[in-house]
Amino acid sequence: MPMRNDRARWGAVSQTFHWLIVAMILAQAVLALLFKRMHRGPEAAALIGVHKSFGMTILVLAALRLLWRWANPVPDLPGTLKSHERFLARFSHGALYALLFAMPLTGWLGSSALGFAVRWFNLFSIPDPLGKDRALGHALYTTHSILALALGLILVLHIAAAVRHHWVLKDDVLRRMWPGCGVSRAASRAAPHRMQS
Ligand code: HEM
Ligand code: HEM
Repeated sequence: MPMRNDRARWGAVSQTFHWLIVAMILAQAVLALLFKRMHRGPEAAALIGVHKSFGMTILVLAALRLLWRWANPVPDLPGTLKSHERFLARFSHGALYALLFAMPLTGWLGSSALGFAVRWFNLFSIPDPLGKDRALGHALYTTHSILALALGLILVLHIAAAVRHHWVLKDDVLRRMWPGCGVSRAASRAAPHRMQS
């Protein structure tokens, strides 16, 4: 499996970023569900600490992922897609990238404004960029919760699109992001006569 992307498929580095971040977002959602149900206390605080540490890791991974994307070719969308489908794909991917930054930033800045230091897995403290401002902190936490809902909605769309590509359109879009999977169906699906449909 090549490390770098080419015009037909994602390389191993892009795939690793994609699926590692998927696993961490899933962990974030599970942690949030757990600590929101718990009474305030040392156990909830420990889970929130892990949530914050994972979240800051996602921020760094998202930045590295974007840098890698800019340094590599990006696979073309199948030629069979209609213009509104291309628009939806670009819009939803752009929104997902924006949320991969906005979620951690609102969490981090909200904690900072409320005066809670963020320690990365209890190993070191992450800088505290804001002075204490409770109103701002609460507004940032509210934004964090609203963005979590937006992320959930766009993910439903994103996963539905992946399923549709694989099982309905039967193209290579899911295969080319799947580790160790060869690309084989693209050529037949991108035949010029289908581009008009
Ligand atoms: C991509 C990364 C992140 C995701 C997907 C995420 C997701 C979530 C979700 C789903 C909730 C529950 C929202 C609700 O129903 O009220 C939540 C709450 C929270 N998150 Fe995050 N989070 C991320 C990063 C962070 C970071 C980096 C921090 C802090 C450094 C953080 C701090 C918090 C806190 C303190 C709460 C509780 C807020 C409250 O009490 O209203 N999160 N997060
Ligand atoms: C937290 C969950 C997820 C996030 C944040 C996410 C984010 C993204 C982003 C930003 C891209 C665009 C890549 C780029 O253009 O650089 C992408 C591509 C992709 N994602 Fe996800 N994704 C998630 C979950 C999933 C899941 C569960 C699936 C499969 C069921 C999936 C399948 C794909 C596929 C197939 C592509 C490649 C699209 C293409 O080649 O044009 N993703 N994802």
